[in-house]
Amino acid sequence: MTDQATVREVGLRDGLQLVQQILPTETKLEWCRLQAATGFTEIEVTSFVPPSVIPQFADAADVLAGAKTISGLRASVLVPNLKGGVRALDHGAEKVTLVLSASEAHNMSNVRRPTDASIAEFRELVAERDGRDLKGKVEIACALATSFGCSLQGEVPEARVFDIAAQLIEAGADELNIADTVGYANPAQVRRMLREIDALSGGIPVAAHFHDTRAMGLANVVAAVEAGIRRFDASLGGLGGCPFAPGASGNIATEDCVYLLESIGLSTGIDIQGLLDVRERLDGWLPDERVEGRLMKARPAKTFKAAS
Ligand code: COA
Ligand code: ZN
Repeated sequence: MTDQATVREVGLRDGLQLVQQILPTETKLEWCRLQAATGFTEIEVTSFVPPSVIPQFADAADVLAGAKTISGLRASVLVPNLKGGVRALDHGAEKVTLVLSASEAHNMSNVRRPTDASIAEFRELVAERDGRDLKGKVEIACALATSFGCSLQGEVPEARVFDIAAQLIEAGADELNIADTVGYANPAQVRRMLREIDALSGGIPVAAHFHDTRAMGLANVVAAVEAGIRRFDASLGGLGGCPFAPGASGNIATEDCVYLLESIGLSTGIDIQGLLDVRERLDGWLPDERVEGRLMKARPAKTFKAAS
């Protein structure tokens, strides 16, 4: 049997949060529809943050409502706090990922509270979901940002990351998303840390989220695969970055990530040519953005064979 991997598109959230141009709701939904049609089963479609903080997501409720009508698609959303999580549940989110940071400095900058306070809000969000009788229907995930280092405080001790991961598992997380928010991770560190986190997760899925700030993104994907990870975030055209972390830049490009995984024998269920067609549309939607990604320029090799 072919080994499988899941790639989750985060361009509509991580990608758009640094983009000044406000993409119309209908364009966001067209992006979701087109990309779902190429085989994506999960897209992080928006973020429930105050519009005063990130105006791009003022239409979060409408984007979520539209994305929920796309068949075969799990519409997930990001939230920075309990309040955002409650709003997301109110609007029928199918998966809610609360973001908190292993770096205390980044947590303060990003969500204006200590990491322990965010962990407490994560527990409350799980309780809120359970109180609404949505356990087993709505997933509550946690993204652990700056797990491999932080551009504000520098080193983030590995023991601290493992300790927080264990607390989140104990709190009832349905998925842990281990994020290299600022592109500090290297493959040796990724292999070591993700093995450890996978081991302590007790079977709860662990996803990896890499930024390509220092050209280590795809090497880190391979290291994560070697550590047993089969869920990856990526952003179409490599858009992305955190507005509250100095020097943060784009995610690994979705099309490059899918191409890599298929090339090494992991089936993603995604049609690569269809995905490149969607990527081409991105140039028209965001004409002023610099997009990255190598496959779009070079196109698949003649020898390329999809894994399935
Ligand atoms: N959605 C909508 N409104 C929210 C909200 C949310 N998730 N969280 C708080 N608010 C509202 C509050 O109701 C309050 O409104 P009011 O002034 O009308 O009463 C106001 O925002 C301030 O609330 P408070 O809890 O004091 O927030 P804060 O000023 O401490 O800011 C965050 C905390 C989390 C809201 C803010 O830091 C934030 O939005 N960060 C975004 C992080 C992010 O998206 N980073 C990129 C992804 S990693
Ligand atoms: Zn990110």
